[in-house]
Amino acid sequence: MAKFSKPAAGSWTQNYPELGTGPVDYTDSVDPAFYEDERHAIFRRNWLNVGRVEQLPRVGSYFTKELPCIGSSVVINKDRDGEIHAFHNICRHRGNKLVWDDFPNEETSGSCRQFTCKYHAWRYELNGDLAFVQQEKEFFDLDKSKYGLKTIRCEVWEGFIFINLDVNAKPLTEFLGPLIKGTEGYPFHEMTEVYSYKAEIGSNWKLFIDAFAEFYHAPILHQKQAVKDEASKLLDVGFEALHYQIEAPHSMVSSWGGMAPPKDPNMVKPIERKLRSGLFGPWDRPDIEGLDPLPEGINPARHRAWGIDEFEIFPNMSLLFWAPGWYLTYHYWPTAVNKHIFEANLYFVPAKTARERLAQELAAVTFKEYALQDANTLEATQTMLATREISDFPLNDQEVLLRHLHTTVQRIVEEYRNDNVNN
Ligand code: FES
Ligand SMILES: [Fe+2]
Repeated sequence: MAKFSKPAAGSWTQNYPELGTGPVDYTDSVDPAFYEDERHAIFRRNWLNVGRVEQLPRVGSYFTKELPCIGSSVVINKDRDGEIHAFHNICRHRGNKLVWDDFPNEETSGSCRQFTCKYHAWRYELNGDLAFVQQEKEFFDLDKSKYGLKTIRCEVWEGFIFINLDVNAKPLTEFLGPLIKGTEGYPFHEMTEVYSYKAEIGSNWKLFIDAFAEFYHAPILHQKQAVKDEASKLLDVGFEALHYQIEAPHSMVSSWGGMAPPKDPNMVKPIERKLRSGLFGPWDRPDIEGLDPLPEGINPARHRAWGIDEFEIFPNMSLLFWAPGWYLTYHYWPTAVNKHIFEANLYFVPAKTARERLAQELAAVTFKEYALQDANTLEATQTMLATREISDFPLNDQEVLLRHLHTTVQRIVEEYRNDNVNN
């Protein structure tokens, strides 16, 4: 018997008839030609979250992002008026990369009054205007006002900085739509203690989203993370999420909680009992405004057993809210059809005591252990998908968000291909 009610349509998946229920083709994760088109159709045309406003604390603060998926390196900075800009990281003189430290391919951050090119010292204002040209008189009718840095559209939502290479794309908040905007008002700005992980993973970017957008592998793949009795109980019952919702191209899933704190302390490991923390985060909620009540879009089904919401912000960001009062983001930045850079950031209200700090650290290392187990599996999946011996896979009702992700990406790439044929 199902523990939680499914929609009237009979299943979460059938609630969205356009998704169908047949097997899903995973050629989209192994075909280099598909990946090339995906870069243009998906990554160069959608809003991409590149960071948060806390990374730009003062006038002149900047950071760079290396983004092979859009074929560029990007500088994000704050100008004298407090406005945030995004520029292609390229000098207008002869194309040198403008902002980097010791290694041109590594990301960097810092603060400056102007950007100075390392090659011939052209200088740019924080708003991108060209300010200085070395031996300017040697040039021919050089109009400095025409040689500012090349800008990229940049908009901020709830402290998240997004860029978009498509000048015709709709504004960010319109793109995010009601599903994502329903989380507005969450106290993101209070959660400034960040634990970050970053790694190159040997899988297509979509496969890691797959691994996070369903939770029913947890009792199996992550079995050893729970104490033995709990693990076998979970296996017997199977896993069902509380709620799924799709507002294309975005989607979300709500899952149960109950582990922070657990009903019975023996359900968890001794270190978790001692530090009052674990995968679900520190058991003691921070004392800040905005968590009670939560914004309406978080736990939209208002389940009492609620523990986590995971929002998939198309194309490559996951935003997770945890019942004990913290949030987490994932980003998946493709570098090739079979590789991507995975970034995870855990955000907490800064600890005031050593105990709070240790509780956060335990949550962060527990998370890392889970993520490593997922990442290993993904590399095993990628190598076998790449054989193309089998390309169609049956996805079940708990995998509805995966079905949505792959069908959405495939539809967009197909439309892009058709447009190219017709033009
Ligand atoms: S390439 Fe930047 S100043 Fe010459
Ligand atoms: Fe997992």
